[in-house]
Amino acid sequence: MTFSVVTNRPPESVESVINGDELELRTVYYKVDPVNPDRGVLTAAAQLLRQGGLVAFPTETVYGLGANGLDARAVAGIFRAKGRPADNPLILHIDAPGQLAQLAAAVPASARALIDRYWPGPLSVVVQRQPQVPDAVTGGLDTVAVRLPDSLIARELIRLAGVPVAAPSANTSGRPSPTTARAVETDLAGRIDAIIDAGPCEIGVESTVVDCTTPVPTLLRPGGITYEMLLAVLGAVEIDPALAGSPAVPRSPGMKYTHYAPAAPLFLIETGPQHTAVLLLREITRALAAGKTVGAIVSAETAPVLPAPVITAVYGPQGGAGVIAANLYNALRSFDHKGVDVIYAEGIAEQGLGLAVMNRLRKASGYRIIRE
Ligand code: TXA
Ligand code: MG
Repeated sequence: MTFSVVTNRPPESVESVINGDELELRTVYYKVDPVNPDRGVLTAAAQLLRQGGLVAFPTETVYGLGANGLDARAVAGIFRAKGRPADNPLILHIDAPGQLAQLAAAVPASARALIDRYWPGPLSVVVQRQPQVPDAVTGGLDTVAVRLPDSLIARELIRLAGVPVAAPSANTSGRPSPTTARAVETDLAGRIDAIIDAGPCEIGVESTVVDCTTPVPTLLRPGGITYEMLLAVLGAVEIDPALAGSPAVPRSPGMKYTHYAPAAPLFLIETGPQHTAVLLLREITRALAAGKTVGAIVSAETAPVLPAPVITAVYGPQGGAGVIAANLYNALRSFDHKGVDVIYAEGIAEQGLGLAVMNRLRKASGYRIIRE
């Protein structure tokens, strides 16, 4: 049995029991105030990280699953806990810009300009790595992704740990990223040492990943720092062809796997706003007629026009890409125990955070996209 307890006392020890072949951990669940976090909790969690443990913690984007980023054994634990393919590299999280130099063999001018403007924040820069960065972190690549998060708790935890913290999103590989500690618990309780709950994440989609080793910096993953914001600093940004919708040969290894997927198959409706409702209704009507239990993830404007039997998750108002980003993963997860056979999602315009939202919805759909 796995279980979690709410406690604000540091764990006396990390208990573990052998259950069949699976190592099951007692996951300690800490609740902290996002503005005034209990220092005792952060100190205990930092101690766990230094001992090689796995700690889920909030960031401004999504919850991360942290381990000591210089300890290959601890990092291997992340891959085990998530069921993550070993060739999908991790982001190293630091708490001050100066630490980048210890991880990067060189900091290109593009990276310097981006971090001067957007750190701390939802931006990960890919740079040539220093030899001390373990292969386990980079998946054997000679580059490393580094991020300085804005979240107070994340930065304080990293500072107390005294090491760069490797942290992917704290979900089971392939599932939507967690924007609440309860979502982390659903996926990883019994597989990690601790969860720090500081309420929902503000941004709701992961950091923007920019490869700064190319002559023109390349956007590998759209996220909290928008394409428009990158352009404002860099003047020119290339877009990884994998983002154009064809899952061809992505340069960011993580982009080639199924991602963000709810339990039921998801179809994405991608047209202009007028046609979306029409197409959505047509598809839903067909599915209902075929006897299916149908879920829909839609805007507040579209929700009222859907037939009654449809199980609906509203992600926000049309045009409200920021709100939609913040609600997206919870909406995707909300169908998990509703017994839906199929989910239809309403696409949005690709401006601002809309680019990141559509990237995640396309991947969640496994590129099952319905256009006119
Ligand atoms: O917002 C975020 O970035 C969150 C929070 C916890 O900080 N973390 C996160 O990590 O989303 P993860 O592991 O779920 O996604 C990392 C992405 C993957 O697509 C991975 O392939 C890419 O970054 N990446 C990491 N290192 C890379 C590298 N050296 N070159 C290219 N892509 C890299
Ligand atoms: Mg992830």
